[in-house]
Amino acid sequence: MEHLLNQIAAYKQEIEAFVASGAEDVEQFRIKWLGTKGLVKSIMGEMKNVPNDQKKTFGQILNEFKLFTEAKFDQLQSNFAPVANASAATYDFSLPGDPVAVGSRHPLTLVKNEMVSIFKRLGFVVAEGPEIEDDWHNFGAMNLPEDHPARDMQDTFYIKKPEDGNGPTWLLRTHTSSVQARVMEHQKPPIRVICPGRVYRNETISARAHCFFHQVEGLYIDENVSFADLKQTLYFFVQEMFGKEVKVRFRPSYFPFTEPSAEMDISCLICGGKGCNICKHTGWVEILGSGMVHPKVLENFGIDSNKYTGFAFGMGVERITQLKYQVNDLRLYSQNDVRFLKQFTGVV
Ligand code: PHE
Repeated sequence: MEHLLNQIAAYKQEIEAFVASGAEDVEQFRIKWLGTKGLVKSIMGEMKNVPNDQKKTFGQILNEFKLFTEAKFDQLQSNFAPVANASAATYDFSLPGDPVAVGSRHPLTLVKNEMVSIFKRLGFVVAEGPEIEDDWHNFGAMNLPEDHPARDMQDTFYIKKPEDGNGPTWLLRTHTSSVQARVMEHQKPPIRVICPGRVYRNETISARAHCFFHQVEGLYIDENVSFADLKQTLYFFVQEMFGKEVKVRFRPSYFPFTEPSAEMDISCLICGGKGCNICKHTGWVEILGSGMVHPKVLENFGIDSNKYTGFAFGMGVERITQLKYQVNDLRLYSQNDVRFLKQFTGVV
């Protein structure tokens, strides 16, 4: 074992005497001594040739040599560590930091959140449904059978049927009323839900129309729910959203899933009712469709229409946003132009 002990002693001398003049030297040191093919490893390998009765003593010597080499390496490294020396002397912690650019919420998200929070105050809870929907939930359950003329009101994106023609007809939902169906399927009255979501219609894209947009749907079913409740709920919403001065009016309308049905207009916020392009010089803008849930829709889900009544409404988030922020081109919402989007920074 003599020669091994001599070898270790020589190594130690060499290590002790080693001086590094830069990080590169430290790395060379590491490779030479501590690397996977380094000398520490290789001398450790000599253990197998050591007679059994000397293994313990020799093992300790080797281990001590390894620790010695590692300690030297740590010391060399700390001399050339890039941050260690620079720290306190060169950093001025009192300087302001570099500003980090933070994004802002999309205006539609802001308005949707605000709409939802207003209805939450009235006890509505959020419900969601799929954007890819079947014919039944989007149309059939909503009292629009296949040959119903009202289906023409909505230009639908249908999804190609499989070769064998089996299974339901799939489509991109044309309104969030499909979520009414999804909710009634699983819940019994009292039901009070608000359903925000994206909807799709096959329209040519222009300043006034888009192939997708967003709606917020409301559904309230319980005993003794009346049209007066519908009006009061929507009136509360409008006042919270647009302020106390805004006026509302209801106009009779038609939706297959509500009877009676009404559309609601509010006094034009852009011109204050005097007449402008937005209100087409009428002083009023339509903001939503609504009505008392059609008894047939309730019956489709086994809800007793003699005992329960309900109201529903649906409105476009883009329209509400347009009125709130005077955005007059629908395309701006999906172009992701930062100059447009960043105007909404700071609006909570
Ligand atoms: N689903 C209708 C639409 O998209 C809006 C609506 C919802 C009308 C609920 C009445 C009741 O135009």
